[in-house]
Amino acid sequence: MGILGSGVQDGLLLKPITYPWAYDLYNQAVANTWFPNEIQLGEDLADFKKMTDEEKHAITYLMSYFNPNELLVNKALAFGVYPYINAPEGHLYLAKQMWEEANHCMSFEYVLETFPIDREAAYESHVSVPSMAAKEEFEVRFIRRMTEETLDITTTEGKKDFIRNLVAYNIILEGIWFYSGFMVALSFRQRNLLRNFGSLMDWIIRDESLHLQFGINLILTVLEENEDLQDPEFAEEIRQMILGAVEMEEQYNRDLLPKGILGLNADYVNQYVKYLADRRLEELGFDAHYNVSNPAKWMATANDTLQLVNFFEATNTSYEVNAQATKTP
Ligand SMILES: [Fe+2]
Ligand SMILES: [Fe+2]
Repeated sequence: MGILGSGVQDGLLLKPITYPWAYDLYNQAVANTWFPNEIQLGEDLADFKKMTDEEKHAITYLMSYFNPNELLVNKALAFGVYPYINAPEGHLYLAKQMWEEANHCMSFEYVLETFPIDREAAYESHVSVPSMAAKEEFEVRFIRRMTEETLDITTTEGKKDFIRNLVAYNIILEGIWFYSGFMVALSFRQRNLLRNFGSLMDWIIRDESLHLQFGINLILTVLEENEDLQDPEFAEEIRQMILGAVEMEEQYNRDLLPKGILGLNADYVNQYVKYLADRRLEELGFDAHYNVSNPAKWMATANDTLQLVNFFEATNTSYEVNAQATKTP
């Protein structure tokens, strides 16, 4: 029996572990547990009030995008992934990831409550701004297919839909679109603004990097276990999905940064998007398509030096609530 299946009575005994990568990621995720109120946003509120209208627009726009989309990832997992895998270690990880997405949503709510952002207007944009709505519709289309009664996970077509949904929410939404937003959010810290908000983003990014590792491992496992999916036409379809997602993101970033802000404009962000898309293509076994350099090398540095961030008013700077949990069997 492979990782795919929908036998409700299968996968009820955890040991022996069949997919150690899923078990390891669960333990890492538990060790990474954090809560938004560990970070105080007082200084950031003072920064926000001093920012230009364009800068405030960028932050508000990010909230408009992130907030509903954190919850949309959970729908992709609940409707499209959890019901179709058998491995209990996969279910453990997905349960933790779903809590993390809820925690991310609550983190953005915390920011919305702290900054003078009109919540109604921020909530409205995900349907009223065409480039943002298009990204959401793209995701919803693939999640919907997973809920159709005709879907049969034992057929080639059913398995292809599983992979399509996985690529849509994991590689594209979490692995490209979210990172593009993270970079814009963290660019403020590069100018010594919104530093504590930046720490919140660091924690979210640390979670998201595990979500990506889980998704990529799951895609590669399903492809390896199912020879009927290893056809060049399907591979090309997946590649085109990713390239199309880059185009959608380019339009979105032009709306996010119509005039640009200090040190950042839509072209800069879109070059980063292309750089990211190439890394995701390579992780899936494709060749890079854009071959551009990373315009935001500081992003890697910012995340490598996570431990050195000064948390100002933070009440708890401990990253690991339970270091024991990282031990593997
Ligand atoms: Fe998230
Ligand atoms: Fe995520």
